[in-house]
Amino acid sequence: MEDPNRGLITVTSYLLDEERKHPTATGKLTWILSAITLASKYIAARCRRARLEDVLGSIDCENVQGEIQQKLDVIANETLLKCLGNRGGLAIVASEENEEPIILRSSDDPERPYIALFDPLDGSSNIDVCGGVGTIFSILHHDRRAKPLESAVLQPGYRQVAAGYVLYGPSTILVMTTGNGVQMFVLDPSIGSFLLVEPDLKIPKAYKSYSLNEAYIETFPEGYQNYLHWAHQNGYSGRYAGAMVADVHRTLIKGGVFLYPPTKKAPKGKLRLMYEANPMGMLIEQAGGKAFSGLERTLDIQPEGVHDRVSVIMGSTEEVDHVLAHLKEKP
Ligand code: AHG
Ligand code: MN
Ligand code: MN
Repeated sequence: MEDPNRGLITVTSYLLDEERKHPTATGKLTWILSAITLASKYIAARCRRARLEDVLGSIDCENVQGEIQQKLDVIANETLLKCLGNRGGLAIVASEENEEPIILRSSDDPERPYIALFDPLDGSSNIDVCGGVGTIFSILHHDRRAKPLESAVLQPGYRQVAAGYVLYGPSTILVMTTGNGVQMFVLDPSIGSFLLVEPDLKIPKAYKSYSLNEAYIETFPEGYQNYLHWAHQNGYSGRYAGAMVADVHRTLIKGGVFLYPPTKKAPKGKLRLMYEANPMGMLIEQAGGKAFSGLERTLDIQPEGVHDRVSVIMGSTEEVDHVLAHLKEKP
């Protein structure tokens, strides 16, 4: 139930308020998050005009992971790098679209205590069909003692200090956590501000819905196949947008489970640990749900590389437990 006395809270006023609760806060995290909201407003505007500006489709280029880059992947990446690159507080940025983490100037400067990782445009092939796409981000503390410096990025997800996504759909939605619950904001395009619409968002404990690319069922490990057969017999419905941000957002609001199991083509899973599974996992956990990669909690995984891939099972606690129970079953 909406609190009528809450007034209008912008994302900046929310963050400044949070800062006041932490006497040691320096304001640097707020400054970084405000760069991400600035970039996302620009990306939202470019997505809305994509057809008019002729930035649909792919460019003749693959990213580091051998995936075709869409024109808007490049635009979104450049926008985030531009907005974040000249903000104080950040030592390193890493993106899906860049092979190596980018070390910003004076990275051993104690005035730059953070690292930002992002998937600039998630589900980018959806842009051509006017489907939901998004930006995902993860913020970590920087360890200046790391050698080489780039390896400071390789931290497990439980160390994230903030995480979130922006969904560019019929409205532009920002869902974010700084480790103190999940807050949902909606961009009011008439004033250009993200306004708080749902403080302390919680995921429903159960909902009979699964979200995955079921066309790959024959190549899933047996436990996932058994779970799907069980779900078919137990009144489940399926929903899949093919963009993690859109699918996880629906799962967060309505409940259910989002999965990307290992497949023949992607034996470790397709989704990236550090800028897809970890930030989404932190949000889901902060909202009261669970996030697993096989039988392991996603946020406990020690990354070996910035572009590592993992399998994903995340959503309502009871729904994730149903999947895990099938994975644990002995043949
Ligand atoms: P990206 O566009 O950032 O490369 O991510 C695409 C991902 C993710 O958004 C989605 O969940 C998944 O790819 C869809 O993969 P399938 O087409 O194999 O279902
Ligand atoms: Mn993605
Ligand atoms: Mn992407």
